Amino acid sequence: MSDLQCLLYMSTASREMAPGEIDGMLQRARARNESLGITGALLHYGGRFVQVLEGESGAVEQCFERISADSRHGEIRRIFSGPMAAPNFPDWSMRYVVNAGPPDRAVAAFLDELQNRPSPETVRQAIALLGRLAGGSADWQSR
Ligand SMILES: Cc1cc2nc3c(=O)[nH]c(=O)nc-3n(C[C@H](O)[C@H](O)[C@H](O)COP(=O)(O)O)c2cc1C
Repeated sequence: MSDLQCLLYMSTASREMAPGEIDGMLQRARARNESLGITGALLHYGGRFVQVLEGESGAVEQCFERISADSRHGEIRRIFSGPMAAPNFPDWSMRYVVNAGPPDRAVAAFLDELQNRPSPETVRQAIALLGRLAGGSADWQSR
């Protein structure tokens, strides 16, 4: 594998999506990502999305361009993109992590920080957080 890129963006949901709609979207997204060699994770929290896309840089940019045109979300902001040595979510064509418990103010505060003051450190923490939340506390669902 050459020319691996990692891209992290944040966006705001345009409207609430029903679980069934999310599942359909995920199914298609995963099939397409798999065919493009893209892996990553998507956090859905309080009307916001944080997504990590990783793979060959051309494929990642193409995927991000398509996602950016999706009217189901807006205020799309690229927080980080750059070369990466190895994927963070190698086993996931798109891991989905959603809050299933009470609002988590620490996560909300962290997302504000990531959005308003992105830095290499907050990006690193965001990727670690996605992995950790997906790792199974009762308040978070991953699929
Ligand atoms: C928050 C969010 C994340 C998405 N992630 C992906 C993705 O990782 N890969 C992908 O192909 N499509 C993704 N999509 C869907 C695309 O924006 C777009 O709808 C889709 O690629 C179009 O193909 P379809 O009509 O077959 O669904 C995402 C959409 C949203 C709203």
